[in-house]
Amino acid sequence: MTFSLLLLPGDGIGPEVVAEAKKVLAWFQANRGLDVTTSEDLLGGASIDAHGVPLTDAALARARAADAVLMGAVGGPKWVGQSYDKRPEAGLLGLRKELELFANLRPAICFPALADASSLKRQFVEGLDLLFVRELTGGVYFGTPRGIETLANGERRGVNTQVYTTSEIHRVARVAFELAAKRRGKVTSAEKSNVMESGLLWKEEVSALHAAEYAAIQLDHMLADNCAMQLVKNPKQFDVILTDNLFGDLLSDEAAMLTGSLGMLPSASLGAKDPATGKQAALYEPIHGSAPDIAGQGLANPCATILSLAMCLRFSFNRGDDADLLERAVSATLDAGIRTGDVFAEGCTRVGTAGMGDAIIATLDKLK
Ligand code: IPM
Ligand code: MG
Repeated sequence: MTFSLLLLPGDGIGPEVVAEAKKVLAWFQANRGLDVTTSEDLLGGASIDAHGVPLTDAALARARAADAVLMGAVGGPKWVGQSYDKRPEAGLLGLRKELELFANLRPAICFPALADASSLKRQFVEGLDLLFVRELTGGVYFGTPRGIETLANGERRGVNTQVYTTSEIHRVARVAFELAAKRRGKVTSAEKSNVMESGLLWKEEVSALHAAEYAAIQLDHMLADNCAMQLVKNPKQFDVILTDNLFGDLLSDEAAMLTGSLGMLPSASLGAKDPATGKQAALYEPIHGSAPDIAGQGLANPCATILSLAMCLRFSFNRGDDADLLERAVSATLDAGIRTGDVFAEGCTRVGTAGMGDAIIATLDKLK
C-alpha cells in the first residue's frame, strides 16, 4: 500500500527541521521498504507572503487528500500585528479545525541521556513517560463571541469564549481512556471546575463517560493550576493527562521542559476514524514554535520533528516496528553524546540541525 504524506515546513526553523525529517523518511524508503509519496506546500507566514492567506484552499485540499501531514512550525515577528485571521497561526488553526483534528497527543518522555538537561533534578524526571491528550478544535481557541470592541465610553473590551459541548468532551475523553488502557491505565483530567461552568461540565461529562464505559481505568480529576504545580513537584505520578485546548497548550509546554528541551517533543493531532474506510485525518508536528531567533542558522534541534515522523509511522502508516526503531535511534544518538545546543552538556559533541539528522541516520544504519 502506497501512503501519501504532505509536508508543510512553514516558517522560521520549520523548513530546517522538516528537511531532516525528509532525510529520515528517505532512509526508511531506501532501507525498510516504506512506500510513501510526498508532496509539499506552504503554510503560515510563508503562505501569506506567497498567496496573501495563511492556508490556501489548494493546500487544505491536499491535506485532506493525504494520508498524513507533517508540519514544521508557523509564525514569526514579521506577521505580528495583523488581524488574527491573517496571521500564520490561523493557517494551523484552520487546518486543525477543517480536518477536525480534535485529539492532540503530546507524549512527554525523558530520554535517559537527557535527564540532566532537565531543569528538575534527575530523580524527578528519569524514566518520565506521560502523555497529554489535549482537545484541539474547541474551547477558547474557537469559541464565539470573540473580538476587541470599543465601548461607548471609549474603553476597549476584549472577549473570548470558552465553550464545550458533551460530544466534544466525550470524543476526546474516549481517546484518553483508550490510550490509557494500553499504558498504565490512569487518566488525570484537568480543568477549572472551581470557577468555570465549562470546567464543571468537562468534569461531569468525563466522569459520566468513565462510569458508563471505562470503569477499569483509574480516573482522577485535578484543577489545572494544581496540575501545573504537580507537574514540577512529582511528574511521574501521571500517565495520561486529559485537558481542554488552552490548558493543554500551557501544561504541555511545561511538561516539555521537564524532558530537557522543547526541541524534543513531538505531537500527533488525530481526527475520528472513518468506520467505512478506516481513514483517519492526521497532522504531525513538533510542539515547539518557529524560533525566529535562531531561524536560518542551522542550530535548531530536529528531534521533535523526527519523533513526530515516528508517530506518523506508528499511527498513520501502521509501521509500529519502524516507529520503535526510529525512537531507539534518536535515543541512542543522544546516548552517544551527539547534541544540538538546546540539550548540550559538558563532554558532548555539539552539532547543528543537519548534523543531528545525519547522526540519527548513521545510528539507524547501525541498528538496522
Ligand atoms: C501549539 C502552539 C499553537 C497553539 C500555536 C502556534 C497556534 O502553541 O501547538 O502548542 O497554541 O496551539
Ligand atoms: Mg503551544
